Amino acid sequence: MSTLQYQTGFGNHCATEALPGALPAGRNSPQACPYGLYAEQLSGTAFTASRFENRRSWLYRIRPAAVQQPFEACTDIASWLNAFGDGPVTPNQLRWDPLDIPAEPTDFIHGIRTWAGNGNPDDHTGVSINLYVANRSMQDSYFYNADAEMLIVPQEGRLRLATELGLIDIEPCEIAVIPRGVRFRVTLIDPSARGYLLENFGAAMRLPELGPIGSNCLANARDFKTPVAWYEDLEGDFALYAKFTGGFWRARIDHSPLDVVAWHGTHAPYKYDLRHFNAIGSISYDHPDPSIFTVLTSPSDTPGTANMDFAIFPPRVLAMENTFRPPWFHRNVASEFMGLIQGVYDAKAEGFLPGGASLHNCMTPHGPDAETFEKASTADISQPHYIRDTMAFMFETRRVIRPTAAALASPALQGNYYQAWQGLKKHFNPSKA
Ligand code: FE2
Repeated sequence: MSTLQYQTGFGNHCATEALPGALPAGRNSPQACPYGLYAEQLSGTAFTASRFENRRSWLYRIRPAAVQQPFEACTDIASWLNAFGDGPVTPNQLRWDPLDIPAEPTDFIHGIRTWAGNGNPDDHTGVSINLYVANRSMQDSYFYNADAEMLIVPQEGRLRLATELGLIDIEPCEIAVIPRGVRFRVTLIDPSARGYLLENFGAAMRLPELGPIGSNCLANARDFKTPVAWYEDLEGDFALYAKFTGGFWRARIDHSPLDVVAWHGTHAPYKYDLRHFNAIGSISYDHPDPSIFTVLTSPSDTPGTANMDFAIFPPRVLAMENTFRPPWFHRNVASEFMGLIQGVYDAKAEGFLPGGASLHNCMTPHGPDAETFEKASTADISQPHYIRDTMAFMFETRRVIRPTAAALASPALQGNYYQAWQGLKKHFNPSKA
């Protein structure tokens, strides 16, 4: 799709310049930078974070980021919230239809609807889970998020993310991650766009450990792409929006903040094509846990227990013998928010639509619906079963995922979702083993 240029690899130290020689030789902050640029460090982790954890980039830009008017609180971004409440949360299974594309002009940051979440940005723990719908590009405005890194999962419509560190194009079945603090503008490549946005308040996402799987598989580092340096030298009357401590702020700025001519470092946006995911599964019997499909993970302070995991359910082959092949019935201490990018999810015969969402919270029972169970229990499994043309995903968190009042009041909420399991018949017969 794209003719944009990227560097490949995950977590690599990148060095890139849009003008030859724009990166200073030999030092990060010389007395005078080439081309009259300013040097500025953008730190995504504590200065003293371990070398493996450390993420920071040096930016060489036309003006420092500090050249802006004072921020004022703004209220025009009304449906993007970080208030998840502290009262009891319904343990019911929840599912929503996709949101309609709005009729009124709506850009990406104004089209974000917070659906659920936990933790809070002040403490750098938890997530916010949002849906977005948009029908126009951001115009004369830019945005950065001091609260979270942003994982964008398009379901419909391509996006161009013009960031301080370069251009990224994504389409459905691709994802992008914009690190905390990076300024950007979202342009729609198609007439409308719909998808999912996760704000990760916790530690930056990284590839999961592979353990006995070895040095390959799942999301391979080589398939991640970071943009090369790109800049615009624009002057005018622009708005710079910021999200900080759950609130929105707007400042006037008389130039584009996307004026980084060269940069090097590790705190940078990236994209990944989910179709490159190398799925691992059972080749004998039973299923591994769905953690086998983890693309990216944000660790918590408890080893082995993530602040959040991003997992996918991609096209794959099921060949397990004497096994119920769809995902099994289960209850989970972690909480699971799912979305569907395309096709059909193999645990549900109907009702879970592309662009829709479901939430199964801590210890809420769920699994295949009645139709899927009956079919899979009697299916011929002497042959492999090919699951094609699908792409579902899950945001899984250690904390309870609290749906917002807007999500619970939305006409998209399916009041009859519980009926998916009511047709499960009693098959028990104590005289037949
Ligand atoms: Fe589940």
